Amino acid sequence: MSDLNVKVGLIGKLDMLKFKNMAKVREKAIQKAPAKEISGTFPVNENAKALHPDALELTVDNIIARGGAKTFVLKRPDGGPLPYFRAGQYLSLKLPLDGSLVTRSYSLCSSPKEALNGSYAITIRANPGGFAADRLLRDLKPGDKLIASAPQGFFYYEDLRDAGHVVGLAGGSGITPFLSMARAIADGIEDFSLTLLYGSRREEDVLFRGELDEIARSCPKFKVIYVLSDEERDCFEHGFLTAELIRKYAPADEDYSVFLCGPEAMYRFLQPEIEELGLPPRRFRRKLIDVTKSPWACEGYPAEAEGKSFSIRVKQGPEEWTVPASADEPVLVAIERAGIKAPSRCRAGECGWCRSRLLEGTVFIPKENEMRRWADVHYGYIHPCCSFPTSDLVLEIPGEFY
Ligand code: FES
Repeated sequence: MSDLNVKVGLIGKLDMLKFKNMAKVREKAIQKAPAKEISGTFPVNENAKALHPDALELTVDNIIARGGAKTFVLKRPDGGPLPYFRAGQYLSLKLPLDGSLVTRSYSLCSSPKEALNGSYAITIRANPGGFAADRLLRDLKPGDKLIASAPQGFFYYEDLRDAGHVVGLAGGSGITPFLSMARAIADGIEDFSLTLLYGSRREEDVLFRGELDEIARSCPKFKVIYVLSDEERDCFEHGFLTAELIRKYAPADEDYSVFLCGPEAMYRFLQPEIEELGLPPRRFRRKLIDVTKSPWACEGYPAEAEGKSFSIRVKQGPEEWTVPASADEPVLVAIERAGIKAPSRCRAGECGWCRSRLLEGTVFIPKENEMRRWADVHYGYIHPCCSFPTSDLVLEIPGEFY
């Protein structure tokens, strides 16, 4: 340090003097101020609330049917602008179903530009046997009201971390965040190139083909390749998304990132394929659509727990309940089924909104959903949305908030 030869001019010296006096000036101002509560609101707080509201009341403005899926266009009841978002984020809907209050997250498929014009769009695909999707597809109609979170999630492009070229891997309804990204690129909101490999079983299962082709025609930064696993068609790739296919379409002379969004089976299949590419970890981003339905098939699952039933003592503030739980369902599902209002958003282990303290018992957490902080692991906090009971539990959940 003594070797440093830093020259400070007159302006610099005055600045340093001002800085040195800052604490004194502040202390004086505090002493002079009246000891009264500050009333009124401040523009900065109002802006923060408008951008990051705790919850949004939305109205279904329009419904567009597409095969086994529907796109719901959502607006504010007063038609005003909606909070801006990053292409790739999702809304968490809060739904009263069968006496329970559950949440479901759906990626926004519209461009962030549309939010400023007052609309969001989400697309829901049929999920036979599922708890929420089929009801929403059947029951939601124009004019219905929904309560949603503000846009959430980390599955978006970040130029400090990601390469300028992204190879997107989409499966099933995992197409929706990529459609939002493609629209944002075409609108000039996002500045990266996207090559999208979109896997479906058959041609009829491809969602948004018209929209994707249209963007690809008009925007040189976006390209889409359709991959069909169950049939062969001209102009489509045939088979599964593999390392070989990624290499075929990834830029040969440019660094690239891989973004993946799809169901559990696709993620499990692609994991070794992506490892084969030898990308540094920061070049791979993923968004899981759901939590596994067969935890016993996951690496590390304790075989003795399979098929068993347990009980969970749930504590929330001064209240307490004991609820039945099955080994093959996440703890959060058992809590919600009992009608207990428990906070959650992503339902895949990512957001931490459901973070709860495990006071007694053991759970199994699939590797792909294990996103807890080290301190949480150490001090016994779990994410009930992706934790499966492997014994009776005592759990302290946070109060309901949104
Ligand atoms: S709901 Fe997001 S981590 Fe559980």
